[in-house]
Amino acid sequence: MDRREIHHLAQDLKNYLHYLAFLGLEALPEVDPPPEVARSAPETLDRIKSDLGDCLRCPLAQGRTNLVFGEGPDRADLMFVGEGPGEEEDRSGRPFVGAAGRLLTDIIVKGLKMRREDCYIANVVKCRPPSNRAPSPEEAQTCLPFLWRQIAVVRPKIIVALGRTAAQNLLETDEPLTRLRHRFHELEGLAIMPTFHPAALLYDPGKKAPVWEDIKLVIARLNR
Ligand code: URA
Repeated sequence: MDRREIHHLAQDLKNYLHYLAFLGLEALPEVDPPPEVARSAPETLDRIKSDLGDCLRCPLAQGRTNLVFGEGPDRADLMFVGEGPGEEEDRSGRPFVGAAGRLLTDIIVKGLKMRREDCYIANVVKCRPPSNRAPSPEEAQTCLPFLWRQIAVVRPKIIVALGRTAAQNLLETDEPLTRLRHRFHELEGLAIMPTFHPAALLYDPGKKAPVWEDIKLVIARLNR
């Protein structure tokens, strides 16, 4: 549309408003936006949460007490992605609040020297898999679009993928975690650092040193 057409359109609109005023209409009625405008409303974490609703999209819904959406600010430089809620997360509705969560908090506070509440924390699946098994590929694929929407809102500089499930699903690969960890994988402006899951450190403290090596790379990149 060129300047002349815009000028004519503005003139027509002005005339129309004068006409409405002439008819005695002092304010335009409020109307709901048409669906195509409503759909283009800005994405927010609340909107994603409400789209998830009382999710029944996969069988994990049957066993859950609470859906664990994820938590943290709606903009964060650093995001952690785990596998899926465990027992305490399922009970509380919050990610990483059990024993593995306490270890993750230590990594954030003591290792990264950051506050946990400044990081965004989420999981590949939002409902607890029975007996803490890994989510099936179908369960992960059903839930992942919501995680990608969260990532798009939060726009982290770095995602630390905690464990094999997170690393393989985010990077869409079958490569073992041992070959994926300790280097950044660049993905559409995101840097993904796979490392061992904190739960693995509880069983094998020997993994603490390699995790610290991975975290040092994260610190260096955050500070650069
Ligand atoms: N393990 C995960 O992968 N996520 C949690 O939220 C808790 C434990």
